[in-house]
Amino acid sequence: MTVLLTLLIEPGRAEARREIAITPGTSILKAAHAAGVDVTATCGGRGRCTSCRVKFVAGAVPPASIGDEVQLGGALVREGYRLACQCVPIEAVTVELAPPLEERSFQILGAGPGLAGGVAIDSGVDKQVVKVALPREEHHQTSDVEQLAAAIGIAAAEVPAGVLTGLPLALRDDPAGVTVTTFAGRVLAVERGDTTSMRFGLAIDVGTTSVVTTLLELGSGEQMASVSSLNPQAVFGADLMSRIAFAQFDPGNLRKLHTRIVGLLNQHVAEVCRQSGVLAKWIYKAVVVGNTCMHHILLGIDPSWVGLAPYAPVMRHPLVVPARDLFLKLAPEARVCLLPIVAGFVGADAVAVALATRIYEGEALRVAVDIGTNGEVLLGSADRLWACSAPAGPAFEGGQIRHGMRGAAGAIDRVTIDDDVRIHTIGETAALGICGSGLLDLVAGLLDAGVIDWTGLIQVEARESLAPGLRERVVVRGEERQVIVLKAGEEGAPREIVLTQDDVRQLQLAKGAIASGIAMLLHVAGVPPGDVHELMLAGGFGNYLSIASAVRIGLIPGLPPDRIRYVGNAASLGAQICLLSERERARAAEVANRIEHVSLAAHPDFEQIFVDAMNFPPR
Ligand code: FES
Repeated sequence: MTVLLTLLIEPGRAEARREIAITPGTSILKAAHAAGVDVTATCGGRGRCTSCRVKFVAGAVPPASIGDEVQLGGALVREGYRLACQCVPIEAVTVELAPPLEERSFQILGAGPGLAGGVAIDSGVDKQVVKVALPREEHHQTSDVEQLAAAIGIAAAEVPAGVLTGLPLALRDDPAGVTVTTFAGRVLAVERGDTTSMRFGLAIDVGTTSVVTTLLELGSGEQMASVSSLNPQAVFGADLMSRIAFAQFDPGNLRKLHTRIVGLLNQHVAEVCRQSGVLAKWIYKAVVVGNTCMHHILLGIDPSWVGLAPYAPVMRHPLVVPARDLFLKLAPEARVCLLPIVAGFVGADAVAVALATRIYEGEALRVAVDIGTNGEVLLGSADRLWACSAPAGPAFEGGQIRHGMRGAAGAIDRVTIDDDVRIHTIGETAALGICGSGLLDLVAGLLDAGVIDWTGLIQVEARESLAPGLRERVVVRGEERQVIVLKAGEEGAPREIVLTQDDVRQLQLAKGAIASGIAMLLHVAGVPPGDVHELMLAGGFGNYLSIASAVRIGLIPGLPPDRIRYVGNAASLGAQICLLSERERARAAEVANRIEHVSLAAHPDFEQIFVDAMNFPPR
């Protein structure tokens, strides 16, 4: 399967239009160059300039990358501008090449505050080459570290003990000097020779189900590598409550959870270093986001009371700790920054989503929905901000679904239903299972075809009225109602793939959690859904879910399509923004303080809202 890319080379002139069929996974820049269309790529396609910018004029705009955020900025990103080198279309799109920007947007970012458009890079990690005058005379009244501290203008006490061990050799090894790395006025490393160009950081999003680690170059924001994997704590419980129950009042089990996540993060560090050729000792800063429970467990804090009413977290403030305290194998004195928490079930990940989506800006009311096992909903504007947790469970990530799987090769990620079921798989390989986006399409299609009714019941009794292709897929086996999505051997599937009645119920619970979260915040704010100016869908949800299917099953309100957009893994993007900008990290604390937490279960109207949200909207 290919994706149709239409390039408007000179907008308004029909002959200056090129249509290219591209293979999935190809960036717009690569596709244009392969087709012989000149697109300027000043930085060589590394997301470090704005020369390759395009503007989307038709089709779904892919989520912004950190390169888009840094180089173009939130306002242009929202207008549909993207960097062609960072942007991979997933469906037919039309883009305008190099549309003019306002002059201010052409500034190369990275030079400090005051730059308009993108995120001004000020990671706080500074490197400088210093020549240190070593003690020469035997009657000296000084030391290596005092000489170093004097050379860089800080107190010797600001040089941590961990740096002292390698100091004498480093200072004497290279007459050209040493490279001193500092963060917020504190020395993190002293290295022999000039290593000033080696300055990297990690953005880490610890989700209940998935963990994503991204390595960025701190001077430019260039993404060097990114890895994601399942959270290995999941063997001790798929959702937060079962994870908390496992650790509750049992230090041994808490240690197991802690060890699992630290072990995974160190694997991620090794992997991003392997992919990029960066040495772990050059990683000086990490920003971690995650829900309150994941945050506490990473720090080794007992989360027991997060799971007991009134669900109070142990701490909420932002925290900076040395990497070695968390047993993370970065530069030993690297700083790990944990973003602030709002409440027991509205964590640092929600703060990161608020930051990445800029929901706290502007007059228009916007909604951000982070869809995940422990999702969150945010509603607000510059005026007020509300948030609630929306614990969807793992169904959207393929969990607790008979043939569910994550959005990996072989997962059915798109389904259309006419007189039969048509599927598409990631990687266009034989179908192994169904991921969240496929599940949504499947149920939306079955609703339209009348195979599932508004209560979620698979209509076995009414199958005679269905088209023949569909009819034979609707079955009862034992007591169980099923829809056979693929028979063994169909489309090369090695085994039968079915949707069971229980799968539909799991999806209803999951979408009910999200939909009731949105409905409750609107209810608390006293505004009708139609007043929502924009609804942003966040989360690493399989591939990208179909917005039409999300509306059809009632996961999100039926707003006009141009008011709904997918913003990708906004929690990870928020962490990346805070990694590159200390100003944004400070803003995270302000935003967290502004968010008003709404406890769903404690609200007298919640039960009715949840029951309504479980049902599917009528046709
Ligand atoms: S070529 Fe420089 S950002 Fe794409």
